[in-house]
Amino acid sequence: MQTKTIVIAGCGDVGSAIGQLLNKAGHKVIGLRRNINQLPQGIQGISADLTQLDALKQSLKQIEQYDILVYAASASTSTEEGYRSAYVDGLKNTLAALPMTPSHLFFTSSTGVYHQNDHSWVDEESPCEPQRFSGQVMLEAEQLLHAQGIPATVVRFSGIYGPGRGYLINKVREGNLAPESPLQYSNRIHRDDCAGVVAHLVNRVFEGHPVDKCYLASDDHPCSMHEITHWLAGELNASMQSKSVTRFSGSKRCSNKRLKESGYQFIYPDFKTGYKTLIN
Ligand SMILES: NC(=O)c1ccc[n+]([C@@H]2O[C@H](COP(=O)([O-])OP(=O)(O)OC[C@H]3O[C@@H](n4cnc5c(N)ncnc54)[C@H](OP(=O)(O)O)[C@@H]3O)[C@@H](O)[C@H]2O)c1
Repeated sequence: MQTKTIVIAGCGDVGSAIGQLLNKAGHKVIGLRRNINQLPQGIQGISADLTQLDALKQSLKQIEQYDILVYAASASTSTEEGYRSAYVDGLKNTLAALPMTPSHLFFTSSTGVYHQNDHSWVDEESPCEPQRFSGQVMLEAEQLLHAQGIPATVVRFSGIYGPGRGYLINKVREGNLAPESPLQYSNRIHRDDCAGVVAHLVNRVFEGHPVDKCYLASDDHPCSMHEITHWLAGELNASMQSKSVTRFSGSKRCSNKRLKESGYQFIYPDFKTGYKTLIN
């Protein structure tokens, strides 16, 4: 296949993993972030702050040609201002600063755009009426992406776990296990599958296959927080006595039907196969 160039704006954990997959496939990858010394081999770094338009324009002048933009920045602070700056302003600035328009745009979004809290299944066509600023700003960024007049795809990740993301494991080790009631569904995706999904969709663009405007990226098995935390406690030999209610952020089940119909095969189709690699 002909070598293509992919720019990854906000090239952090997921962005770098995407970049490495595309680089291994023979493509040139340019990663934008403030601290480029943290980029892995195979990704050409450009040091840039996506929130500073004038400086960004200067930094991106050196890009002579590219094919696809993947926007994968994350908010540095969990405030509405931080979210707006990273997801809306950063995206706007990046599109304004790049010297030419990409042939396809990708944006890594979140299942936080869904408001459903009744354990129902959601897919790409389900209504999104987020009550929290995080989902509202993400949805605004998705709308901005689709208003560009160029082919664009949003990938909505559910809860990302993987190397260096020990939040849940640590909670369980401390004895925080979710009770059986109230039922709370959790949807997860391993970091390597996040990267695999985006690389798969980018490759579909390169191969001339149709790519939808939105994909929900979550593993095959939404399950209750009770099931996950108790299984983890068993694997970790942690106490099953102490129980506390975990963070509550809605209860829904995310369908990955569209993604799988596009030909993506999960490396870690459920939380057990993924977590086993992290705790054994
Ligand atoms: N965590 C989850 O469970 C979850 C769930 C759903 C969706 N997502 C989404 O998945 C995407 C990827 O997340 P991730 O875990 O890979 O995040 P990450 O590791 O924090 O990477 C994001 C990168 O963005 C860069 N960045 C942030 N602000 C920037 C700025 N102003 N200018 C330039 N670069 C900037 C940061 O690098 P520097 O600090 O070096 O600039 C950082 O490395 C994000 O869009 C996130 O919202 C995450």
